[in-house]
Formats: sequence, structure tokens, C-alpha cells
Amino acid sequence: MKCIGAGLARYTSEIDPLSPGGHAGDVFTGYQVMAGFYMKRFTGKVVLVTGAGSGIGKASALRLAAEGGLVFCVDMNPDTLDATVAEISEAAGQARAHACNISDEGEVNACITACVESYGGLDVLVNMAGILRFDDTEQLQLDHWQKVIDVNLTGTMLLCRAVLPHLVNSRGNIVNAASTAALSGLPCGVAYSATKGGVLALTRSIAVEYAKRGVRANCVCPGDINTNMTEGLDFPATMDFDLMPRISSITGPKGPEVIAGVIAMLASEDGAHITGEDVRVDGGTLS
Ligand SMILES: NC(=O)c1ccc[n+]([C@@H]2O[C@H](COP(=O)([O-])OP(=O)(O)OC[C@H]3O[C@@H](n4cnc5c(N)ncnc54)[C@H](O)[C@@H]3O)[C@@H](O)[C@H]2O)c1
Repeated sequence: MKCIGAGLARYTSEIDPLSPGGHAGDVFTGYQVMAGFYMKRFTGKVVLVTGAGSGIGKASALRLAAEGGLVFCVDMNPDTLDATVAEISEAAGQARAHACNISDEGEVNACITACVESYGGLDVLVNMAGILRFDDTEQLQLDHWQKVIDVNLTGTMLLCRAVLPHLVNSRGNIVNAASTAALSGLPCGVAYSATKGGVLALTRSIAVEYAKRGVRANCVCPGDINTNMTEGLDFPATMDFDLMPRISSITGPKGPEVIAGVIAMLASEDGAHITGEDVRVDGGTLS
């Protein structure tokens, strides 16, 4: 593993497999080690992460805490949420847990109030909570369609709406979860694709509406990331698996930390001139 920047050099002996004590092929998953490795772009910044109990949301919470952020972790699953906060705390990071269903307007508003009261403000919203289901389009039931819309699209909007006054105060920013499914057809994914296209469109609208007030809004478009969402997918009998390469990366799936790093860049001052953008992180799927 290579270290970039002189300020990080003191960590190389712990993590460089070519250094004394290192071993070729070492895999460094330890958050404690990585917390020392990262820049501290979020010191003193309050970051709210939804979906923080699993996958990309969890990886983002860990990454932003490792970079010095005060992370307000939100998920509807209190058990996995507590596990994320415990992992951050064990590594001397700062995080608090707040259980919330993001599709419930009252719960979302209470969540933002709790975050601001708890940490005294809000600088960054990372909106990763979401659900995925596959349905044969002709068999798609209205309640299944509605559930995906409620969580992925309405939930994202509710969070954005509630944080905007605070982001205007802090000149903060939003990173929303879109998907390669927003950019290209997803077989048997009509509901999911529609929500992700909607997230992309609402993010661009917020970016334009709030640019002069100092607020940025961007999306990541992940593809082929190993998480609970992509494990054991339930496909309808009519699914045409010949179409699967459309959603598979050239080099195979990657872990959620590859998305977390891009989210950290967008949400940091390194992304200061990026707004209304969608950053595709899919290992070349749509290239
Ligand atoms: N994994 C991928 O390949 C991939 C690809 C494209 C886009 N995405 C998007 O990235 C985001 C994160 O996905 P992931 O793969 O980490 O999924 P995941 O299933 O691992 O994590 C999603 C988290 O969201 C939470 N959640 C679900 N509904 C919620 C609700 N109503 N309120 C609060 N929390 C809720 C879940 O409890 C879970 O912890 C999603 O928006 C997903 O659509 C993922």
C-alpha cells in the first residue's frame, strides 16, 4: 500500500507490506490503522449519515469519523446502528446513533432536530439508506412500487428538505445515493431505477437552487458493490440473466469503502467546486 503526503509517512511502517514487519498480501481492514492513515478533512464538522448500519452508509460513517468528523449515524435498524457507533468509538472516533425510518416525515424532522441539538449544527448530509427489489414489470404490485418510492425517493427528499436550513448556515453540502440504474436500464428494476433517476434529478435541482447560498449537492452512482443489498438478490422467474453483464463491473465487485472514499472527497473541501454532479463508481460497468 502506498502513502501519499509527507504528513502520513509515519504510518507507512504499520501498513506498507513492503516495509519491515509488513507482509506481501496483507489486507488492512483495521479501522484503527486506517484512522491514522487518512487526512482529517472533517475535523469539527458534523456529518449525518443515513443507512449507517450497513454497507456503503456504514463505510462512509467509518471513513468520515476517521477523518475527524462528528458522525450522527442514522438507520432504521437500531442493532446494526449501535454496532457502527461502537466500532467508531473503539477507534477513538466520535459518533452517535439515532434510529429513524427515513420515509416517515415526523421521524426525519425529529432526527435532524436531535442531530443539531446534539452536535450544535450540521455540515454534511450523506444519504445512503435505500432498498432494492426486482420485479417483472407486468407483475409489479403498486404497494411494492410505492414502498421503493417512499424509502429511496421520498426519504431522500425528506432528509434534504430538513437539513437545508442548517446547511445554509454552515455552507455545507449533501451527497445522495443514486446508482448506475439511474443512468442505464436495469432489467426488472423499474421501481428502483425510477427512484434513482429521481434522486439524480432532485439533487441537481437542489444544487442549482442553493448554489448562491453556498450549499452544494452531489450524487454518487455506485455499481457492483458487495453489501447486504446485493447479497442473495431475489429475482423474478422471468429475469433474463443474459442481461446481468449490464450491471456487473469489468473487474468484479468491490467493497463499500471504494464508494466511501469518493463520498468523502465530494463532501470535503476537495470537492468545493463540484455541485450538481453525479460521480459513477462502477468499475467500468457503463464505460
Ligand atoms: N450496493 C450496490 O451495489 C449499490 C449500487 C448502486 C446504488 N446503491 C445505493 O447505495 C445505497 C446504500 O446501499 P448498500 O448497498 O449499502 O445497502 P445496504 O442494504 O447494505 O444498506 C442500506 C441501509 O439502509 C437502511 N434502510 C433501509 N430502509 C431504511 C429506512 N426506511 N429508514 C432508514 N434506514 C433504512 C438499512 O437498514 C441498511 O442499513 C442505497 O441507496 C443503494 O440504493 C448501492
